[in-house]
Amino acid sequence: MFGMEHPIVQGGMQLVSRAELVAAVANAGALGFLSALTQPTPEALVAEVRRTRSMTDKPFGVNLTILPSRNPPPYEEYARAIIESGVKVVETAGYSPEPFIPVFEPSGVKVIHKCTSIKHAKKAQQVGCAAVSIDGFEAAGHPGEDGIGSLVLVPRAVDELDIPVIACGGFSDGRGLVAALAMGAEAVSMGTRFLGTREAPVHDKLKEKLVEGSELDTQLIFRKFKNTARVFKNSVAVEVAEIESRPGTEFTDVAELVAGERGAVVLETGDMEHGIWWAGVSTGLVYDIPSVAELVSRIVSDAEKIINERLRGLSQ
Ligand SMILES: Cc1cc2nc3c(=O)[nH]c(=O)nc-3n(C[C@H](O)[C@H](O)[C@H](O)COP(=O)(O)O)c2cc1C
Repeated sequence: MFGMEHPIVQGGMQLVSRAELVAAVANAGALGFLSALTQPTPEALVAEVRRTRSMTDKPFGVNLTILPSRNPPPYEEYARAIIESGVKVVETAGYSPEPFIPVFEPSGVKVIHKCTSIKHAKKAQQVGCAAVSIDGFEAAGHPGEDGIGSLVLVPRAVDELDIPVIACGGFSDGRGLVAALAMGAEAVSMGTRFLGTREAPVHDKLKEKLVEGSELDTQLIFRKFKNTARVFKNSVAVEVAEIESRPGTEFTDVAELVAGERGAVVLETGDMEHGIWWAGVSTGLVYDIPSVAELVSRIVSDAEKIINERLRGLSQ
């Protein structure tokens, strides 16, 4: 459906999903997504698509994250930029993709909606999405409010839907890929694991933190505001969680601490305590910083080995 060689997707990541990473993912035979809103304008997004194309002739997509905002970006214009640039697959996340389907469909752009509940996955199918990416509670970013892990959420989605399901949240290696395929998913999508690759355009100190960190090093924040986010557990994340836990506090009490500009400084300068940055529970499974090509070929060969050796052995 999407023209990739391997059943591996790199989910859209704000400030990370730029041409260097996405082209490396495409060249490795997987499907990468640029992050639309990382680009300051729709015109800049068209230029970033062009830059990615100069590095790969394989397919890739664009992520369009639609979140509540007091000052929303011009989503329609970003959608038109995607169409104009000739990209044929979009990963939507956040609000319902429904208003965008009639925009994309006539141009043959397929939509994969990323969601965290069966209710929203069914709605995505109903409004015409080509596939869904199901984010279990392990995921970095916004893992939803229900607290259901991928081990249950993915097969539940497979049971409820007719369109392909991509398993997302907590996947990082060949074992995860085999598990996802066994649960009926068509592919895995990963964020944290791709953040820990040589081509991810973030400071090396952040990558070192991922290698040092364990599965205990993420922090849930915004739970109280019903906009749960999973971030790396640094001093800012712990402070945000502490403020939230006080009775009567509101988002405005933490807004300054969680400002996007502060997070951007972390990624760019490696000042790891300057703001919050997204990371999933799979931080515990990031043991090294390979190139994207090494990572994808390792995942595929480990998966094949598990299927051909361990699983075959169990069935005899
Ligand atoms: C640094 C970072 C930034 C992210 N930014 C976005 C984003 O802008 N939009 C989005 O839909 N998901 C975003 N995500 C979530 C990923 O696309 C993906 O759904 C998630 O990382 C999957 O869980 P995993 O980290 O366990 O692989 C981000 C994840 C990371 C690690």
